[in-house]
Amino acid sequence: SGPAAPQRSIVLVGLMGAGKTTVGRRLASRLGLPFRDADAEVELAAGFTIAELFARYGEAEFRRGEQGVIRRLLSGPPIVLATGGGAFMDPVTRHAIRRDAVSVWLRCPLEVLVRRVSGRGHRPLLAEGRPREILSALIERRHPVYAEADLIVDCNDDGVERTTDLVHRAV
Ligand code: S3P
Repeated sequence: SGPAAPQRSIVLVGLMGAGKTTVGRRLASRLGLPFRDADAEVELAAGFTIAELFARYGEAEFRRGEQGVIRRLLSGPPIVLATGGGAFMDPVTRHAIRRDAVSVWLRCPLEVLVRRVSGRGHRPLLAEGRPREILSALIERRHPVYAEADLIVDCNDDGVERTTDLVHRAV
């Protein structure tokens, strides 16, 4: 038999475009764990898309839903969980992640993020201006907090398979 499946959930954090969902899905299949995407779970629970939630109820309400979903997902058996870029910024969510899971920050340079988010319409935070400026402001604000993750993996421009290798080796 292969190596034992991890006992704790693995949570991927980092900015929009870091590849949390893509890497998370691949990592989960390698580890034989279920994969969940927090954004998708919030949409499922609310019956609205993220964009609709932001527009109708505002970001604060979205964060409360996100908090509940992540805490619920981490209270069960081990999974690989991709979070939305703001999830780890919320103190309550961050506390739950740090307590119940191994957190991995997918750290990407601005250029890579900008390239990857272009043409995506489902991110309300990017609808308000130029992606480069918004992402660069988010880097300033969020990177110091993402640095509290248990592990840091640099994604550079190596492609998702290579990044998945690095995460797989680190966890
Ligand atoms: C957000 C990132 C999005 C989504 C929402 C808010 C953020 O997730 O949760 O639009 O605050 O950075 P992704 O990081 O998966 O794009």
